[in-house]
Amino acid sequence: MKGIVLAGGRGTRLYPLTVSVSKQLLPIYDKPLIYYPLSVLLLAGIREILIISTPEDLPSYQRLFGDGSRLGIRMEYQVQETPRGLADAFILGESFIGGDDVCLVLGDNLFYGQGLSSMLAKAIRECRGATIFGCPVADPSHFGVVEIDLNGEVRSLEEKPQKPRSRYAVPGLYFYQNDVVKLAKQVRPSPRGELEITAINETYRQQGRLQVAKMGRGMIWLDTGTPQTMLQAGCFVEAVQSKLGLYIACLEEIAWRRGFIGDKELYEAGKRLEMTDYGRYLLRLLQEERPQ
Ligand code: G1P
Repeated sequence: MKGIVLAGGRGTRLYPLTVSVSKQLLPIYDKPLIYYPLSVLLLAGIREILIISTPEDLPSYQRLFGDGSRLGIRMEYQVQETPRGLADAFILGESFIGGDDVCLVLGDNLFYGQGLSSMLAKAIRECRGATIFGCPVADPSHFGVVEIDLNGEVRSLEEKPQKPRSRYAVPGLYFYQNDVVKLAKQVRPSPRGELEITAINETYRQQGRLQVAKMGRGMIWLDTGTPQTMLQAGCFVEAVQSKLGLYIACLEEIAWRRGFIGDKELYEAGKRLEMTDYGRYLLRLLQEERPQ
């Protein structure tokens, strides 16, 4: 399975913050926003990852992650000239995806919770077409909305409905079999001019190949489209990290625990960042879990 992080768009709802900086590079407490969705791909065990962004911003991501080898992964980059919608990720990513299945995560979505890794593993294991998630939110009308029947099947899907048929929003994390590339090319622009991911998911639903997994109370999903939601996300991360002493979206830690990198690489990463709490956290992991 390959992974795509979509980090395009102009971030207009965050102006003037995003006039000259890519939204997904803005801080959520102590890390760039993109660390959070990227951590989900690493947790899912995905090691071949494509970052899609604007021509102006892509070099910043290349500076941040290089070829991915420091994390024991392979990172590729793809320009998106104009923001044409989420489904465009599969058209732009066609040669990267090749013959594999693919997971798409939006560069501004943050997930955290006890059962996250097992939820991801299950989604990959059981994907028979497409797997999406349903997360209860107070106001679903800002999102894709999924209606789930008593058997756990998807009854309907709607993109930003004025009158939502359920409380379950569809977060920006999607698993697909390889034919998503073909289906993406058949999508026509919506009234807002975008190639909607919801149109792809609706096709899978009509084919009886769409699964939905509910995210329960133990899971938190935050999307960070406005200054308020960015601040909320930052406060959440700060509270968890300082209380538990455990980091959220610490990429080197995940790569190390997944066996993508070894003790030596973790040590080097810790030393490079030793002037920060982040770096000292990496070194502490080694001391605590690999006492000499
Ligand atoms: C997109 C999708 C929507 C989904 C949301 C999650 O919305 O179109 O279905 O619920 O991401 O963040 P957008 O960010 O394009 O408004």
